[in-house]
Parts: sequence; structure tokens; C-alpha cells
Amino acid sequence: MISDLRQLGDWALIAGGSEGVGACFARRLATAGVNLVLMARKAEPLEALAVELRAASGVAVRTLSLDLTAPGAIDQARVATDDLEVGLLICNAGSETRFGDFVDTPLSRAEGMIQLNVVVPTALAHHYGGLMKQRRRGGVILVGSMAGNSGCAKIAVYAAAKAYSQTFAEGLWAELNPHGVHVLGLVIGATRTPALERAIGTAHDGLADADEMAREGLDHLDEGPVWVAGGNASAARHIRALPRAEAVSMMSRGTASLID
Ligand SMILES: NC(=O)c1ccc[n+]([C@@H]2O[C@H](COP(=O)([O-])OP(=O)(O)OC[C@H]3O[C@@H](n4cnc5c(N)ncnc54)[C@H](OP(=O)(O)O)[C@@H]3O)[C@@H](O)[C@H]2O)c1
Repeated sequence: MISDLRQLGDWALIAGGSEGVGACFARRLATAGVNLVLMARKAEPLEALAVELRAASGVAVRTLSLDLTAPGAIDQARVATDDLEVGLLICNAGSETRFGDFVDTPLSRAEGMIQLNVVVPTALAHHYGGLMKQRRRGGVILVGSMAGNSGCAKIAVYAAAKAYSQTFAEGLWAELNPHGVHVLGLVIGATRTPALERAIGTAHDGLADADEMAREGLDHLDEGPVWVAGGNASAARHIRALPRAEAVSMMSRGTASLID
């Protein structure tokens, strides 16, 4: 566990930092005295969180309202942070909120999912990870999903994108860790967040707590390459060891139980 997260650098950048797990990361980092750059599409919740954090913790908070999947978004993020030492990058935005069969869904939806979960984190990690490597300090958290452990009906592209997220985190860890940069693929299961509640309603029991997921991510940042949160580590190992058809069937049943 990193005792003082300010050791990584003065600022943390959270892509998807206005609500849910991202907002929980922000609150915890602000309490730890880390200044924040928060990115999300809707300006109002972003600004409300920034006001709350400045008042509660006295940290500096910059907000950047943008769609990360839009052309030029990464350049905008870069320009907004060129004068800062971003010591921690958290790629959080990426949930699946609309379920359906791949071929019955417009291709543009799949492309947006791949952009948000694959292209954007890759580009952000390239830029900020490169600067961290030069400085020989920093941390990168890529928020993944239990869905990344196997293929899954109704969320085929999301599951594949989250498999990329974990595998990418592993390779990045191997490359950056020797240079003093922590990398963690944070794997979480179904978690109560506004995005999930908008997608499946509020009635489901047994969802993980968003703040607990953020806590585990920060507490285990120096135990990369992967941390499976919420006590799901043995379930993840089990799914990965199953014959693939069994794994897909099990994950597909689990997903169906959430959306039916
Ligand atoms: N909730 C779950 O059950 C669950 C389970 C497994 C894994 N995860 C993973 O946990 C992470 C967080 O999930 P979440 O449920 O909190 O929902 P999320 O929609 O991935 O994240 C919410 C945050 O991301 C921002 N965001 C979403 N799309 C964006 C875009 N295109 N451009 C910029 N910002 C964007 C949202 O603000 P705006 O809407 O204003 O843009 C908000 O701040 C995701 O990576 C997800 O895959 C979640």
C-alpha cells in the first residue's frame, strides 16, 4: 500500500471522474491531498463535484467536460494538463449501459465502446505513462471488469474490450514497474453506480459498493499487475480455468440475470 499518494505526483487525472467509482476515486484522492483533473461529458455534475472537493479538502480541481470518444479528445486532455505533473492516471469511464446482440446493434455502438475502453486508455497511458517513466514515478489504474474473463452474450464487445484492458495492464506493468511506475488492472464486478442503475434499475441486491472498489484500487495500486476487487479473485481464476464454452455460458447467464 502506498502510504502517501502524493509521492506519485501532485495531480491525478480521472477519465470518467464525475460519478460512480470515478467520483469515489476523486473523493479519496482529494482527502489524501492529491490535486485533481476530472473529465466527463456532463459539465454540471463535474463542476458540482469539483466545488465539493475544493471545499472539503482544499485541493485544486480542474474539470474538463468532453466526450472522450470524440476526435481530438486526447489532445484536449493533454493541453489541459501540459502544465501539471500528473502522477496518477485513472482510466475509469467505460461501462456498458445498453445490452443486445452484436449483429442486431448498430456498428457505431461497438466502435464507441472500443474507442472508450481500448483506444482512449491506450492513448492516455502512452502520453502520461511516458512522462511518468521519465520522472521515474507515478501510477496508472485501468478499471476493468469481471466480464473481461470470458466472452459473454449481450455484451460481446464490452467483454472483449475489458479483456484488452486487463492484458494491456499486465504488459504495461511489466514495462513500467521497473521504472518506478505502478500499473494496476482493477477488475470489478457488478457495482452500484448511477450508470449501472440507469441501465438495469435500482432493484438488484448483491452489488458491490463503488467506494469500496475505489478504496481497493488505491490500496492495491502497488500490487499490480491485476487486483480483482470485491472478493472475486477465486471466481475470476475459476472462470479463466473453465473450458471456454462453459465459461461463456456461465457469464452469459449472469449477465442475463442482471438485465432480465
Ligand atoms: N458498474 C458496474 O457494475 C461495473 C462492473 C464492472 C466494471 N465496471 C467498470 O467500472 C468503470 C466505471 O463504471 P460506472 O458504472 O461508474 O460507469 P461509467 O459510465 O463507465 O463511468 C461513469 C463516469 O464516466 C463518465 N463517462 C462515461 N462515458 C464517457 C465518455 N464517453 N466521455 C467522457 N466521460 C465519460 C461519466 O460521466 P458522463 O456520463 O457525464 O460522461 C462518469 O463520470 C467502467 O470502466 C466500467 O466498465 C463497472
